[in-house]
Amino acid sequence: MRDSEFDFIRTLVYEHSRIHLGPDKRELVAARLGKRLRATQLTSIGEYCDLLKNRSDGQELAHLIDAISTNHTFFFRETPHFDFLRAHVMPEMIQRHRTERWPRFYAWSAACSTGEEPYSLAITLTECLQNTGWGWQIEATDISHRVLEKAGAAIYREDVVNRLPPACIKTYFQKGVGPQAGNYRVKPALRDHVSYHHLNLLEGEPPFREPFQLIFCRNVMIYFDRATQEELVNKLARRLVPGGYLLVGHSESLTGIRHSLQLVRPAIYRRPPVS
Ligand SMILES: C[S@@+](CC[C@H](N)C(=O)[O-])C[C@H]1O[C@@H](n2cnc3c(N)ncnc32)[C@H](O)[C@@H]1O
Repeated sequence: MRDSEFDFIRTLVYEHSRIHLGPDKRELVAARLGKRLRATQLTSIGEYCDLLKNRSDGQELAHLIDAISTNHTFFFRETPHFDFLRAHVMPEMIQRHRTERWPRFYAWSAACSTGEEPYSLAITLTECLQNTGWGWQIEATDISHRVLEKAGAAIYREDVVNRLPPACIKTYFQKGVGPQAGNYRVKPALRDHVSYHHLNLLEGEPPFREPFQLIFCRNVMIYFDRATQEELVNKLARRLVPGGYLLVGHSESLTGIRHSLQLVRPAIYRRPPVS
């Protein structure tokens, strides 16, 4: 890939997703563009750059962002977060609900990828909120249309699901038969609590108004530069109820970022409660 082509691609990706592609990502970008060349039947990255310049409908740009973004995720990733939810966040929120009478417990999985994160959260909320009579809802968003489609379908390969405890699989997943043999699907009782939306976290406002008791924004900030991380953290903080929690990936320290949140423990932040 020529320098000018790499610069064109990285600028375009930055402008539309804020994903920062440093010089060390050149090989990765070239490899991922290979897929788009095959899909568009073009033979060089130069021709592909021309296609991006000439297509005004943004369709190829969406495919480019899909191809460049890293979607790696798995069920109950970073288990200390789920342990903390069960042990601290949920008992505290249930207690507060008794006086504040929130209509629902609202959580947001920002950058939800293929759905493993919001469904892990849904399992945790089901178990923590049963017998409380308190309704709950998870909003899940991502910039990639491809991952959102997979998340909404909620179908996962057996080898992915089999890493969960058997009792969890039995309760929350349906085993596929016929053409779906070898797959599992998340049961409707969980799926009905999760809504998916396309959203670039750095562009405009999310399509929901309610403040959240809990926001997961994990393993996406590593792809942004410091200024973008700061903008995003402050944007998310404004969407939390006072005393609400923001969970970030364990490799994503907010050190050096100006924000109003309190550090509770590594990768767990909280909007200060009203005193
Ligand atoms: C590595 S995955 C993390 C998934 C999940 N949160 C986890 O921790 O397992 C990062 C996700 O961030 C999404 N993403 C990247 N840039 C984004 C942006 N500007 N707005 C929204 N989502 C973005 C990607 O499409 C990808 O699905």
